[in-house]
Amino acid sequence: MKILSIETSCDETAASVVENGRFVISSVVASQIEEHKLYGGVVPEIASRRHIESIAVITQNALDNADLSFNEIDAIAVTHTPGLIGSLLVGVNFAKALSLALDLPLIPVHHLRSHIASNYISHPDLEPPFICLVVSGGHSHIIEVKDYTTFNTIGKTRDDAAGEAFDKAARAMGIPYPGGVYLDKVAESGNENSFKLPRPTVTNSKYDFSFSGLKTAVINQIHNAKQKNNTLPVDDLAASFRKSVVDCLTTNFIRAAKDFGYSKLVVAGGVSANSLLRRQLLEECLNYNWKLYLPNLCFCGDNAAMVGSQAYYEYLTGNIANLNLNACASTPID
Ligand code: KG4
Ligand code: ZN
Repeated sequence: MKILSIETSCDETAASVVENGRFVISSVVASQIEEHKLYGGVVPEIASRRHIESIAVITQNALDNADLSFNEIDAIAVTHTPGLIGSLLVGVNFAKALSLALDLPLIPVHHLRSHIASNYISHPDLEPPFICLVVSGGHSHIIEVKDYTTFNTIGKTRDDAAGEAFDKAARAMGIPYPGGVYLDKVAESGNENSFKLPRPTVTNSKYDFSFSGLKTAVINQIHNAKQKNNTLPVDDLAASFRKSVVDCLTTNFIRAAKDFGYSKLVVAGGVSANSLLRRQLLEECLNYNWKLYLPNLCFCGDNAAMVGSQAYYEYLTGNIANLNLNACASTPID
């Protein structure tokens, strides 16, 4: 079954053709980073406009790269939630139009479910059940993946998402947008023990995260130094901050895996590209003799191939939308 999938939940316009949930025939991603860089973050109105301009071309590119025509496609899939509402609407309306015009089933896909599925296209052997750490710009969740379409959220952030904290801390350090990506690079040459930063925990929850206090701690260090006319070594501060975030993510994720009895661990979302997170979790899993699955770097950020993968399993369980499908800014995964 060949699914043509569309992803426009944030600032990437993406289309892909995926066969039977596992084989990526083509995947095209148009990033808007250069334009949003001017503002230091994603401007929702600009994002929606750029999606409108590029969605038809990107979809045609995905078909051309797959050497397929519209009448060789079996279903249309689209990210309908969660995300920026204006951005989601562009993808949802485009997918609805394709579904109507081509008389093909329309498969709605939850963005976090698709991030998890980025591991199915990276690892042919991976099958649920497993436990997954989903860390992106908008979410930091620990999720039990019981089967392809059954999820249970064990823990989540109470405030900022990990990616958001990376981006905001990077901005305060003068590191260019997209902050998380560059902070990770800068941190590689820094000393992670230079700055004493907290590892915040959440009262009454062993699995939830809280990153806003950590972000504020970094911003305070920067302000204090500025007031004294000192300049801080950005690589050391970035390394210390990255270490704190990764320690928090790792501690709760490993604890949840132990408590819920999982030895198959999976990571997903934009922050899964973080080099320290990947190293640290690999080390932990090696110690426990657990199996760790990380998405290929090209599928960590937003893309449509992961949408096409998850869509296949949604289709098999009968999750098919009609033309009343709407976009929704926020919906829990389970
Ligand atoms: O999943 P994603 O592409 O979009 C959302 O669904 O939000 O995640 C984007 C987030 C951004 O906050 C970005 O800074 C972060 O992932 N990110 C990273 C790295 N690469 C991307 N954060 C830390 N280290 C990285 N290497
Ligand atoms: Zn995402």
